[in-house]
This record gives sequence, structure tokens and C-alpha cells, in this order.
Amino acid sequence: MSVMMKPLFSYAGGKSRYLKHLGRYFVKTNTYVEPFVGAGSAFCYMNYYSLASKFVINDINHHFMKLYADIKSNHEDVLREALAISNEYRSIDEREVPYFISDQRDLYNANPTSGRCLFFANRAFGAILGVDQQGRLEGAFGYHLDRRSKGKIISVKDVEEWAKALQNTEILSGPYAKVRVPGNSIVFCDPPYRGVTVNYKTKFDDADYTALFNWCSELANDPTISVIMTNYSDGLFFEGLCRDDGRVLVEYYDSCFTNGPKKLRGKEILMVWNSLGPTQRQGKLTVTRDSASTHRPLESKAE
Ligand SMILES: C[S@@+](CC[C@H](N)C(=O)[O-])C[C@H]1O[C@@H](n2cnc3c(N)ncnc32)[C@H](O)[C@@H]1O
Repeated sequence: MSVMMKPLFSYAGGKSRYLKHLGRYFVKTNTYVEPFVGAGSAFCYMNYYSLASKFVINDINHHFMKLYADIKSNHEDVLREALAISNEYRSIDEREVPYFISDQRDLYNANPTSGRCLFFANRAFGAILGVDQQGRLEGAFGYHLDRRSKGKIISVKDVEEWAKALQNTEILSGPYAKVRVPGNSIVFCDPPYRGVTVNYKTKFDDADYTALFNWCSELANDPTISVIMTNYSDGLFFEGLCRDDGRVLVEYYDSCFTNGPKKLRGKEILMVWNSLGPTQRQGKLTVTRDSASTHRPLESKAE
């Protein structure tokens, strides 16, 4: 079996590790819409299994959306620049690595080219990559920067796979609520984690989570749209919204995420409207089974 298409950089909140849970709700559809795409682990999954004929991706981080747009239109140029910086990087002394990487961020912000964006994001190793008040690409260093691995840096194969996948993809950059969702879609919403203090520098408070939940709920009034939303669960907040909605299928899985220098363990909540799953994938084989016994919507609050 071929290797799964991969994100081009490691990203705080990336969902690669959780695809075994999420992927059970990803089935064949016309359009796959991801309004908070980040590094795109679920987008990779949908592409790898050829589960949609069209894709729409969006993120408020315009740097990454520009990177994807440039890879779509001319991945050779992006690769050429990223590989040239990688060669320079390989020749520096180990002690210089953190300075070299943060210099790349500053050089990129002074002259934002996508090859440098790719190199910087790829080397920042899970640093919280966000956008600062001035719109510059921000990467908070300290805990994550990998000082050891100077081996394989940019994977030509990964970039080429992205270039291919993006040909069929509409690339947007803005707030999620501006994304238009057609019928016969799967929408996957992975907003920033609620309650996590170090974030992408975007504001997302409880009013925003409620507004997003309502946006998902409204989309689901169209029975041909399946909506999946995930987040950190404190056992109360999202559960209350789901109870009031009354149509949401809820599942939990264990998660581990980074909050500043700390690793936190917790429960992740998966909320699904108009569920099309769960399915189990082995290689390219998709088996659908009845979900009724193990999964059910949270009941509405008793009046
Ligand atoms: C948890 S991350 C998504 C990670 C992604 N699923 C992955 O696997 O890489 C959340 C993303 O939401 C984006 N974001 C934050 N506020 C947003 C908004 N109002 N509209 C669209 N995107 C937003 C952030 O820039 C970040 O990339």
C-alpha cells in the first residue's frame, strides 16, 4: 500500500494522530470543505482515499493559504527556493540552528516568498505558527525547535503530491463564516482548541465557539451536508450546545496537546451532524457498518 499523503509541516493542533477516529466519518462525497485547514491532515486523508471530486480549503492564516496557492500554480518554483535554503541550512553549525530558523522567519516577513514560508514552517517543528497583529507570520520558539535532525528536510514527493491534490481545490483565505458550502458535501471544522492559552494569535472565545456551532448546525439543515466538528472537551460547554441542538452525534477520544511548554492530556469531542459513518478503512477498502448501537445523538434537555 502506498504511503499516505502528508502535511507539509508539523502544526499545533494538527489532526494526523486522530485520523483513525475522524476518518470514520469521512466517506465518498461530491465536495469536501475544510474551513480551518491549517496544515491539512484531514485534507490529505480525503485526497489519499479519493473521497471527494472537489475540495474547498480555507484558513484565516493567509501565509499558508498563499503557500498552497503557489504550490498549486507553480510548485517547481516553491520547491527550488525551499531546497536552496535547505542546502544553506545543512552547511551551518549545529549551534546556529535556532538563529538560522528565526532569521528565516524575519527574512520571510520582509519578503514573503512561498519557498521560504515552506522551509520555515517545515523547520519550526510544531512551534505555534500564527499571524501577529501586523499580519506577519509568527512562530513562537523555545520548546519545539528540533536541533538534531538536519537530514531530510523538504520532501519533493510531498510537495508534488500536494501540487496534484490542489489542482482540484478551491483555496480561500478568510474567516470560516465566509466559506460557501454547496449541497452534497462533507464539512470538517477543526477550530483552535478551546481553553488553550497559546494559540495562533487569532481570537476565538466562547461566543465564537457558539457562533461556529450554530453555523455548523445551520449547514446541517441541508440533509445532504454532513458536518463534523472537533475540539477539546471540558465535559460541559460543547455538550450543552449539543444537547440544545438535539441532532448531534457525539463521540470522544483521548488526546494530548501542547499548551505552551506543557503537554496536556484530555478528551477530544467529535460532533457530527448528518453522520455518514462510521466506516473502517483497510488499505483502499471501505466497510460501512451500522452505527446505531454504539453512537447516538445526545438527547435534548428535558423541558
Ligand atoms: C486546530 S488548527 C487546524 C489544524 C488542522 N486540522 C491540521 O490538521 O493541521 C485551527 C486553525 O484555525 C485557523 N483559524 C483560527 N480562527 C479562524 C477563523 N475565524 N476562520 C478560519 N480559520 C481560523 C488557525 O489559523 C488554525 O490554522
